[in-house]
Amino acid sequence: MSMRFRPAHPGIDNLMPYSGGKPIGELAREKNLPRIIKLASNENPLGASPKALEAARKAVEEVHRYPDGAHWELKEKLSHHLGIPREMIVVGNGSNEILELMTQIFLSEGGHSLYAWPTFVVYRLAALAHGGEVVEIPMDESLRFDLGRLAEAITQRTRLIFVSNPNNPTGTIVTSSEVRTFMEKIPEGVPFVLDEAYFEFARHVPEFPDGMDFLREGWPVVVVRTFSKIYGLAGLRVGYAAVPEEIARLIEKVRQPFNVNHVSQAAAIAALDDEEFVERTLTHNRVEMARIQEAVEGMGLSVTPSFTNFLLIDLAGRDGQDVYNRLLEKGIIVRPMAAYGLPGTIRVTPGLVSENDLFLEALEDILEG
Ligand SMILES: Cc1ncc(COP(=O)(O)O)c(C=O)c1O
Repeated sequence: MSMRFRPAHPGIDNLMPYSGGKPIGELAREKNLPRIIKLASNENPLGASPKALEAARKAVEEVHRYPDGAHWELKEKLSHHLGIPREMIVVGNGSNEILELMTQIFLSEGGHSLYAWPTFVVYRLAALAHGGEVVEIPMDESLRFDLGRLAEAITQRTRLIFVSNPNNPTGTIVTSSEVRTFMEKIPEGVPFVLDEAYFEFARHVPEFPDGMDFLREGWPVVVVRTFSKIYGLAGLRVGYAAVPEEIARLIEKVRQPFNVNHVSQAAAIAALDDEEFVERTLTHNRVEMARIQEAVEGMGLSVTPSFTNFLLIDLAGRDGQDVYNRLLEKGIIVRPMAAYGLPGTIRVTPGLVSENDLFLEALEDILEG
């Protein structure tokens, strides 16, 4: 096919569009199933924070107005919540937007974006879309980040570094002292993005770092978090980052004027007051993660020890895509991991108790068949 339109960067031609968890509606259109369970996108199975939902309902009445483009109230609330000055906070259309903006600002043709692999695929997609190159350092055998190896891979062409802590899709973490040692090796002027999308699920773990502490100590780190996971607001698209002021000013220059809509801002503000929902989510997650882990181990499978709301299940020699397809036939959506270089695994987010029961039953059936 002749090309009439040439993208600005050749990397765009080779990009594969982001492929997320299969939406429930899509499977419903494809197959006539009595019920569908989605355990594929690290969403909150308990729904959204009730306080956030109430605020969102009220805010819908005001959608004839533009949202607050400066995110004043949400930044104020985050500033208190995090103990970080509001000038160091930026808000995005999901934390995804902040990852994109960091790439847009700091990566140009010939520049390297450095991270370990497998990790959140958006780091790769954003880099290639902006004409940069990716340097992906394989994880060790136990699927842990080796920050020592990552530091060794820094060169003069490194323009941006990402570490997801905990990491998606492995669920593994790096410790506070490992991150400190790593940060000492980062040359001045190279932004280090610490992606803490799953922070709340790991914050009780000794030695698990809170990126805000690094910022308070003066480290020039970009700490990214989201309302999509623990607060159950994935569909509203709202995330934030705490960053050095200099970087906040750059992000404010390039983002869309009204990047986060009015309903989302109202819901996020209210969610920050919903500690009860956070605790309920953590308890449910802890119990169900342990139960699923025990059950799949009982089936002769293994999991990577996870500090998140998802489990990477090693299928003991079976093909992950095949198990994924068979689960789909039974109306259960999980995530196949071949695109992450893990063809023998699936990633599963615990759902409600009854949903997890059905998943375990279906998986056992498939393994026996
Ligand atoms: C590690 C990581 N970072 C960022 C995101 C993006 O989340 P959102 O854009 O919904 O805030 C995700 C979503 O799955 C993720 O796993």
